[in-house]
Amino acid sequence: MRHLMSPLDFTVEELDQLLDLANDIEKNPAKYAHACEGKKLATLFYEPSTRTRLSHEAAMLNLGGNVLGFSSADSSSAAKGETVSDTIRMISCYADICAMRHPKEGAPMVACKHSSIPIINAGDGGHQHPTQTLTDLLTIRSLKGRLNNLTIGLCGDLKFGRTVHSLINALVRYTGIRFILISPEELRLPSYIREDVLDRNEVPYQEVVRLEDALPSLDILYMTRVQKERFFNEEDYIRMKDFYILDKKKMELAPEDMYVLHPLPRVNEIAVEVDDDPRAAYFRQAQYGVYVRMALILTLLDIHVD
Ligand code: CP
Repeated sequence: MRHLMSPLDFTVEELDQLLDLANDIEKNPAKYAHACEGKKLATLFYEPSTRTRLSHEAAMLNLGGNVLGFSSADSSSAAKGETVSDTIRMISCYADICAMRHPKEGAPMVACKHSSIPIINAGDGGHQHPTQTLTDLLTIRSLKGRLNNLTIGLCGDLKFGRTVHSLINALVRYTGIRFILISPEELRLPSYIREDVLDRNEVPYQEVVRLEDALPSLDILYMTRVQKERFFNEEDYIRMKDFYILDKKKMELAPEDMYVLHPLPRVNEIAVEVDDDPRAAYFRQAQYGVYVRMALILTLLDIHVD
């Protein structure tokens, strides 16, 4: 039995196969419409979500399966003090696969140790968000035609943004990747990622504060929201929240073939006027999230469709 805790749980070859499967699902949805008949996905979300929960559910429904679950800790027995390990023992009796989001780093890992069904980490605190990374990789590969030889700008809350941490971990395994880390001093990428991931893998990167300085050299701009829920005080959040706003004027500095990604939700960091720019790819990215989660469910359940 396999779980997905981190993007590194798949080798690069396995990731390529998963992304190929997602592309085939995109092209031939009818072929997969009954692949999970009789199977159930449980979504255990102890933290708010729109895309991750609903795209997992849409993925299972598209495969002909069923879904059950809860969308907040308050509406589950966690509110009465039930532990993650007891909860997952129950869910193993009710479902065939489970996606879990939790505010505490490592909670899905605890769940795996007590589970008899595959667990998908759907985001754990400021740690990892591997299914968002699969979505990001599929989006980049589909739009740019490759995952090698890319200059990727990561902009915003690089300290608390788990999507950025997961994406860096995944991309350092490809050749010719260069990062431009765009953040205010207070929200710099943590040293455990800079040193243990970027430096250790000898991946070139540059840290800048001004988005305008990075834009002309990017293949991908990955915008992120300032993570209000992870700040210790409201004052710091308010000071940081509008540090970056990508607007039409700034987009004039970007290459014609650069794409803008964002895991969403956005707050103010991308002006709505950018949505009509053909380089704005964040809503297409959310659609790719359904295909890749369909591919992931099939892979973890070891279901093959000819
Ligand atoms: N991208 C993402 O994780 O969105 P949600 O928080 O809405 O699931």
